Parts: sequence; structure tokens; C-alpha cells
Amino acid sequence: MRSFSAKLLALGVTLSSAAEFRLADLGKEIFFDQNLSQPVGQSCSSCHDPQKAFSDPRPLSPGAVSDRVGTRNAPSLMYAALISPMAVEDVYDDEGELSYIIEGGLFLDGRAYDLLEQVKQPFFEKHEMNLSGEDELARRLRRASYATHLKKSLKEEDWESDEKVADLAYRSLVAFLREPLFRPFNARIDDYWAGEKDALNPAELRGFGVFINKGRCATCHFVGTGVWPKPVFTDYGYDNLGAPSRGEKDPGLGMLTKRDDELGQFRVPSLRNVALTAPYLHNGSIATLQELMEFYNSRDLEPERWGKTDYPETVNHDDMGDLKMTKEEVEDLVAFMSALTDQSLLKMKPGDLLPEAPEGVPSTESARTFFEHRPDRIDPAADR
Ligand code: HEC
Ligand code: HEC
Repeated sequence: MRSFSAKLLALGVTLSSAAEFRLADLGKEIFFDQNLSQPVGQSCSSCHDPQKAFSDPRPLSPGAVSDRVGTRNAPSLMYAALISPMAVEDVYDDEGELSYIIEGGLFLDGRAYDLLEQVKQPFFEKHEMNLSGEDELARRLRRASYATHLKKSLKEEDWESDEKVADLAYRSLVAFLREPLFRPFNARIDDYWAGEKDALNPAELRGFGVFINKGRCATCHFVGTGVWPKPVFTDYGYDNLGAPSRGEKDPGLGMLTKRDDELGQFRVPSLRNVALTAPYLHNGSIATLQELMEFYNSRDLEPERWGKTDYPETVNHDDMGDLKMTKEEVEDLVAFMSALTDQSLLKMKPGDLLPEAPEGVPSTESARTFFEHRPDRIDPAADR
């Protein structure tokens, strides 16, 4: 099998010199390294395709072991470094009753507290990269084409520690996913917000209106700047849309929180680049944006069209399912979402490994939670 660095060179990518090799550069090597799976042949990029905004066009991704398949659609990694860590906040509802909000967390059910917890897992999942443990990961990293750079990033004595070597890999991946290329904020909607009023065509502009008003989309897919200096189109909350069942029931957030009323809930995704990330919903059950908008619009009027859902008792009927949008409004909404695609992704040519990075994007540290103060309570299963 051709080595990874040979493949990179063939693609015209040169490795930076030792002196300027940063943690994020190591993360990039690891992200594309197909030798970190058992059997070899699968890397992070196998399921997070840069040409598809780092998502997987297959509804479910096969693992390194070919007869094993996961249960969820691999989401885009664009803007993933901005997802806030899992938090639970007490709030008072409209009636003055004490209630709470759950926000953030990585994976679609929030089971990883933050990005660092998340990147540790794919290597060892049986239906993903299938390594037996950190010792195997460390062994393979010590043999990697970029091993000298890894070694330079550690203290001499730590190079023999499986734990320290694996930990370096995790930190490198986090640094890579925080690179500006993953958060360019250069879609046409950003040009529009920057004052270029003809950046959106008339159908897209009408669609934007539907998004905010009749569609109620912005209730959850925030267009405000609550969590970030620029809108990310999510509040990082959780909800059950009633996605059509595919295989075994998927408990989502309810598994983590051990609460029946949260069964079937999944984190609200960012809608940036959503036109590139078909199929849709946590289980990839809906093929196109057009179909998904028809689902939002009239789910409750045509149950036979969509079939069974895993947890009908927790489905949201207040904000969706019978929106009474006209055929044209549905089409305008679909058109609007194509204005959320980053130009840097649109400019990629076949074979390009990564999109270019824009200048001057705010640092990931600018991410705030929806809450004013970081809540103390981060255990979602704690008493509420
Ligand atoms: C076999 C396919 C596969 C491979 C390989 C894979 N992933 Fe994923 N990834 C997924 C799926 C599927 C999910 C959603 C899983 C879930 O919610 O349970 C996911 C979720 C994620 C998330 C969370 C995104 C979010 O919105 O919460 C991140 C970050 C991520 N992967 C990064 C990586 C990294 C880094 C690697 C390599 C170390 C990797 N993935 C390897 C399929 C894959
Ligand atoms: C009550 C909150 C809420 C509202 C209102 C809402 N959404 Fe969503 N949206 C979600 C959640 C939660 C998901 C993920 C559900 C899942 O994976 O099962 C989602 C998923 C999506 C997806 C799929 C993304 C992907 O990558 O799979 C799109 C597109 C989308 N919403 C667009 C819209 C539009 C357009 C509207 C208005 C018509 C809207 N949403 C209204 C909560 C909401």
C-alpha cells in the first residue's frame, strides 16, 4: 500500500519544515492517516469528506471492518469547534416555574462533554476505526511518517508513554479542528449581512423571510449572535423532530440524561453548508432538503408518507409538522439554504485536500454559551 506521505506529495501537499510544524499540522496528518484503523484503510476523512463539508454522503458510514456499520449519519465538521461543551442551566419558564435548558455537548446526542472528549472515541469504536486501545494507537503513531514531528512535541521520556503519545494525538486533532478553515464564515449570507444587498437573489430573500417568520426556523436555528460574533444557525439545544425510523430505536439525549421526556432528542445542527451535507437528520433518513422541508411543513398531515418514528411521545408538535407553507414558500426556503454554503468550500476542486482558510476570523475563544455565566452543573443526569 502506498504510504500516506507519498499520497500527500502526489496531491501536491508539502509538509512544513520541522521548525514551523504546529500542533494543528500534526492534527491534519492524523486526520488523513489511514494507518490508524484496524484493519488499515480508514481515516477520519473516510467519513468526514472535505469535499462534502467534512460530512458523509452515505446515510450511515461503514467501519474499518467492512461488515460493521454505525447508526448515525456523520455530521459536518465545519464549525464543530464552536459547539459549546455540555451544560445544564436552570431557567424560569413563562409561568414562572423552575425549568432547565440543556445546551451543547459533542456527538449528536451530546455524550462527549467537549471536542477533546469527542476526538478520543472514533479510534476505538468497533464500527469505526476499531483499534484495540491507546497502546495500539501509540504504537502506530510511533511508526507514522510524521513520527519525528510528534516526538519533537513531547518530552524525551514521554515518547515511551502510550498515554502521553495518544494524548498528543487528541490535542493535535482538536487544534486542527479549530483551524480557521473550519470556520470561514464566507457564505453569501455573510456578504449579505456585511451590506452587499444583492448577495441573495429574490427567491433566497423570500426564503430568508419564511425562515424567520412563518417557518419559525430561527427559533432553534438562531440567526442572532448569541453564541458567537457571527450567526451559526443553532442554539445547541435538543429536540425530537420525529425522524422516520431506521433500524433500532435511537434514544439520543435521553440515553445520557436517563429521562423519558428527552428520548429521541438530538442536538440542533448548524445549518451552515447544509446544502452540501445530504442526507439529513441524525439517521440520514431524509435524502434531500426539498423533502426535509416538506417533512417540516406537513409531517403531521401525512403520517403514512413518513412512516414510524422511534419516540412518537416526545415529538415536537408545537414548532413544526403543520406549518401551512405554500409550495413556493417551501421552495424559497430550500433556495435560501444554498446561500449558507461557504465560498471556500465551493472553490474546492476535485482532489483538493482542504478548503483554503480565510483571514481574520474570530478565534474559537470568542465562542460563548447561550447562558450568561457558565453553569456549575455539567452532569446532565444530575437531579433536575
Ligand atoms: C466510520 C465513520 C467515522 C469515522 C472513521 C470518524 N467519524 Fe467522526 N463521526 C461519525 C459519525 C457517524 C458521527 C456522529 C456519531 C454520533 O452522534 O453518535 C461522528 C461525529 C463526529 C464529531 C462530532 C460532531 C458533532 O456535531 O457533534 C466529530 C468532531 C468527529 N466525528 C470527528 C472525527 C475525527 C477527528 C475522526 C478521526 C479520529 C472521526 N471523526 C472519525 C463517523 C465517523
Ligand atoms: C424546535 C427546534 C427546531 C426548529 C423550529 C427547526 N429545526 Fe431544524 N433541526 C432541529 C433539530 C433538533 C434537528 C436535528 C434533528 C435530528 O437529527 O433528528 C434539525 C435539523 C435540521 C436540518 C438537517 C441538518 C442536517 O445536517 O441533517 C435542516 C436542514 C433544518 N433543521 C432546517 C430547518 C428549517 C429550514 C426550519 C424551519 C422550517 C427548521 N429547521 C426548524 C431543530 C429545529
